[in-house]
Amino acid sequence: MRVRTFTLLVALAVLIAASFTLLYWQKRDVRDHVTAPPVAEGVELLLPLPEPRSGLSVEEALISRKSIREYSGRPINLSDLALLLWAAQGITEYDGWYRRTAPSAGATYPLEVYVVVGEGGVLSGNGYLAAGVYKYDTLRHSLLLVKTGDVRSELWDSALRQDWVRDAPVSIVICAVYERTTRRYGERGVRYVHMEAGHAGQNIYLMAAALKLGTVAVGAFDDEAVARVVGVQRGEEPLYIFPVGVPVEPYKGSFDELFKVYTVTRGG
Ligand SMILES: Cc1cc2nc3c(=O)[nH]c(=O)nc-3n(C[C@H](O)[C@H](O)[C@H](O)COP(=O)(O)O)c2cc1C
Repeated sequence: MRVRTFTLLVALAVLIAASFTLLYWQKRDVRDHVTAPPVAEGVELLLPLPEPRSGLSVEEALISRKSIREYSGRPINLSDLALLLWAAQGITEYDGWYRRTAPSAGATYPLEVYVVVGEGGVLSGNGYLAAGVYKYDTLRHSLLLVKTGDVRSELWDSALRQDWVRDAPVSIVICAVYERTTRRYGERGVRYVHMEAGHAGQNIYLMAAALKLGTVAVGAFDDEAVARVVGVQRGEEPLYIFPVGVPVEPYKGSFDELFKVYTVTRGG
């Protein structure tokens, strides 16, 4: 009897100690993530360089690619955001020309990428990245602050009030400068630009799947309103918005399930 009471008391003590430790770490988490790094308008933020992190094969990323529209309130990491941007339009090598993760008609590279960062949306070291709109510098793999402040509700309003645009901690906005491509290919260049946005978008989907993040391609929005909210430069036109966040329900595709689906589509 005494032994059982003693064991119970020890278990209780361990439980209380564990609760206090958990509370301490949670508080520490909140305390440690209150300051924003010093990024001012026009100042460059160098992003963590790309490196293989997810450990997922392309096949696994493809089977887990899915549009996800419900995000938890949790922020995403700056290193994840950096990989998503790199996937969209980062460089891959220099062979006399800077090649990119997505193909480009005649290497005319018409796409420009912006990120709308919400308040507390991106964890960077011990702080949150300041809320605002940033432009991705492809060659330097860096961000330039375009404007400060959380503009997610304005973006949501411009995107026909699709809630995932408001709720995501960040949204990647793909814009295009058509002239770079139409200068060489005439009207057909318009088609090429749209194809390229698709390539970049699929890269974002796959990278998000590999990082266990959720995203969805958003094409339904008021072009002029989005351009205004983002603060795009002359000649740039928004084509796509990709809200990105931590999924409420993480999704992982299964090859076993797919096997069953094909068994049915092939008639058993
Ligand atoms: C060009 C394009 C535009 C899209 N626009 C929107 C949009 O405005 N809002 C949205 O919620 N989903 C949008 N989607 C996502 C599609 O609804 C989604 O891909 C489709 O339902 C298939 O689901 P899946 O991506 O999970 O396979 C768009 C997809 C594409 C390719």
